[in-house]
Amino acid sequence: ATLLASNRRPEILLRSSNHNFQPQASFKVAVIGAAGGIGQPLALLIKMSPLISALHLYDIANVKGVAADLSHCNTPAQVLGFTGPSELANSLKDVDVVVIPAGVPRKPGMTRDDLFNINAGIVKSSVEAVADNCPEAFIHIISNPVNSTVPIAAEVLKKKGVYNPKKLFGVTTLDVVRANTFVAEKKGLRLIDVDVPVIGGHAGITILPLLSRAKPSVKFSDEEIGELTVRIQNAGTEVVEAKAGGGSATLSMAYAAARFVESSLRALDGDGDVYECSYVQSELTELPFFASRVKLGRKGIEAFVKSDLEGLSEYEEKALEALKPELRASIEKGLAFVEKQA
Ligand code: NAI
Repeated sequence: ATLLASNRRPEILLRSSNHNFQPQASFKVAVIGAAGGIGQPLALLIKMSPLISALHLYDIANVKGVAADLSHCNTPAQVLGFTGPSELANSLKDVDVVVIPAGVPRKPGMTRDDLFNINAGIVKSSVEAVADNCPEAFIHIISNPVNSTVPIAAEVLKKKGVYNPKKLFGVTTLDVVRANTFVAEKKGLRLIDVDVPVIGGHAGITILPLLSRAKPSVKFSDEEIGELTVRIQNAGTEVVEAKAGGGSATLSMAYAAARFVESSLRALDGDGDVYECSYVQSELTELPFFASRVKLGRKGIEAFVKSDLEGLSEYEEKALEALKPELRASIEKGLAFVEKQA
């Protein structure tokens, strides 16, 4: 029952009637920042999942209307809206997965790091509430700069004594979605067959698509590798510029985030074959946080796909070394932010 995961076909979503249609599982999902550009289409896609019994939508404003609107869709999840800090705790009670797209997006000319000053505080306060109300939940961080906001979330959870590195995820699924799309277009492949792991981080050169690991196995010229890599790294900026001040990627991001939610729920439901790329606490390199493919299970990350980093092409080896200083600086910036607040 899945529409979103790669290599899987749509089966039962978007039914006109829920007659005879029982949810297969009854997970609860909360979206923090649910009235925003990402939050609204993400909530719609999550509402379509038969794995969910309750969808909690939290925002500081405008969320009641979104909840009322979505609640009329005849799919199983019950939708509840929560507005403002006094309702935040209730929005998180008994939740299995929390998705955080709260914060400001980029405008033309801005890097993801330019968002740091506003979004760092929003992520900190959101994750404090998660720690107090649903410390066992999977936490999906979308708010940028992800390279720094995930280390911030980790420190907040540590200070609260509830940090479980297996359950904290920076959402980098959009990089994989973009890589799959662009590679399929370039090589004339069927989209559903293509899977490209993307490692490193989620900003500029820290985004490293492993084209040598693309499935199905395809040959690229050096020129194609250079072009595709740069396009994947700058795809977010492509959207920011096309929207010309109207924000950053929201629809493709919602799609990608919904896929990551669905993968998490399948893992929680006992599916033993769930793999996704995500930016997580890691020992694959000398950096404390790093995006790579991980195997998801009931308890979060079950294993790291180490083999993705073995036998990289020369281009990828160089790009990996080149991204490390920037990624390290972003991690340290996040850690220093929490330290300063203490
Ligand atoms: P938006 O401005 O349309 O929506 C953000 C929402 O967050 C608004 O509804 C706002 O009221 C809410 N919000 C602000 N402070 C909050 C708080 N303290 N608690 C709860 N909600 C709060 O922005 P958009 O386009 O939805 O982007 C959200 C974030 O996602 C941005 O930081 C953006 O950079 C990031 N992003 C991440 C991507 C990724 O691949 N990880 C891709 C695209 C965007």
